[in-house]
Amino acid sequence: MSFTAFRAPLRRAVVSAATPRAAFRSSYRRFTTTPPEPRPKSNTPLFIGIGAFVTAGAFALYAYSDSGKDAATSVKSGIQAARVATRFVPTKDDYQKVYNRIAEVMDDAGDYDDGSYGPVLLRLAWHSSGTYDKETKTGGSNFATMRFEPESLHGANNGLGVARGLMEKVKAEFPWLSYGDLWTLAGVVAIQEMAGPKIPWRPGRIDGFATDATPDGRLPDASQASDHLRAIFYRMGFNDQEIVALSGAHALGRCHSDRSGFEGPWTFSPITLTNDYYKLLFDEKWVWKKWNGPKQLEDKKTRSLMMLPTDYVLTQDKSFKKYAKAYAEDQDLWFKDFSNVVSRLFELGVPENQFVTSEHWIMKNVDEQKN
Ligand code: HEM
Repeated sequence: MSFTAFRAPLRRAVVSAATPRAAFRSSYRRFTTTPPEPRPKSNTPLFIGIGAFVTAGAFALYAYSDSGKDAATSVKSGIQAARVATRFVPTKDDYQKVYNRIAEVMDDAGDYDDGSYGPVLLRLAWHSSGTYDKETKTGGSNFATMRFEPESLHGANNGLGVARGLMEKVKAEFPWLSYGDLWTLAGVVAIQEMAGPKIPWRPGRIDGFATDATPDGRLPDASQASDHLRAIFYRMGFNDQEIVALSGAHALGRCHSDRSGFEGPWTFSPITLTNDYYKLLFDEKWVWKKWNGPKQLEDKKTRSLMMLPTDYVLTQDKSFKKYAKAYAEDQDLWFKDFSNVVSRLFELGVPENQFVTSEHWIMKNVDEQKN
């Protein structure tokens, strides 16, 4: 039994008795603002950063290119040149070491929230990937542009400095790793170590420039309805079933009034991944919370759980509802679909030929390595 699964009943008790701990700020930020026009695709500067160089300040390789093909070639050869120069070619075992270190950092959370940094790490991985636009092929997890302002300051990314700061510790120990690989691997660790399914993953992302950063408004606004969800997730290339499957991540973690303005957890076990999010959506009676904050729902029975307007639409929209019901009834089905869609989410914006392998890797859980 995993540590988190063991801890879950305890957490359950803690959360059901919980009161919002963060003092509510009366002037909360709107979740997104109107997006400016996306940057033109051509002349995108590509910075090939192998952390060892950056950290040591020895040198950096970068390439400018007018066509995507040339850019991809430059990227590939740049990475190869850098690896040859450092004489270090990381193997799957090296990435497993990074996985294990992230798992330690994640669990060393003391009194933070519900006792794990897992949920906020997953949110970092998702927000760094979910900026993808399939038309312009911009955004996504490739360049880890949330390191730069103004993307780090976008309202949707409030609070993610915690997760980025934690990952700096890991980066310092494994300087050869790109930030995009680090953050998405952290998302994989979070899901797998919080009792979720295996998430197929592979490395190959590279560090980009501030000029690769995406405009504000690409991530979903929780106060909106199904039209908005579709506009945002169709832009990334997902369909209705995948929108619903991804939303189940809200079984984990909580809202913070000083980050998004919303407050509270979605489930009674916010550091163990289950399909409770879907079950609770249908089994509980949800009423609008009466408070001086953004519109959110609370469960009538305990008033300790919450749903965002965008969560609640999964029970109201006919197409979404069909999938949400199926996931409420069958956790295995949801785990299977969630695993597939998260794996794709974390690869948005990464050209196929940049990955070091065409096969996806299944990283080992910490518990599996003990046996
Ligand atoms: C469907 C559209 C979505 C909306 C509108 C949305 C909105 C939000 C909001 C407002 C918060 C609270 C942030 C805070 O106050 O700390 C949050 C937290 C979170 N979201 Fe989402 N989200 C969406 C989709 C997703 C997806 C696709 C994932 C992952 C696959 C995800 C994972 C999480 C996690 C794990 C947290 C908890 C973070 C923590 O505990 O610190 N969300 N989300």
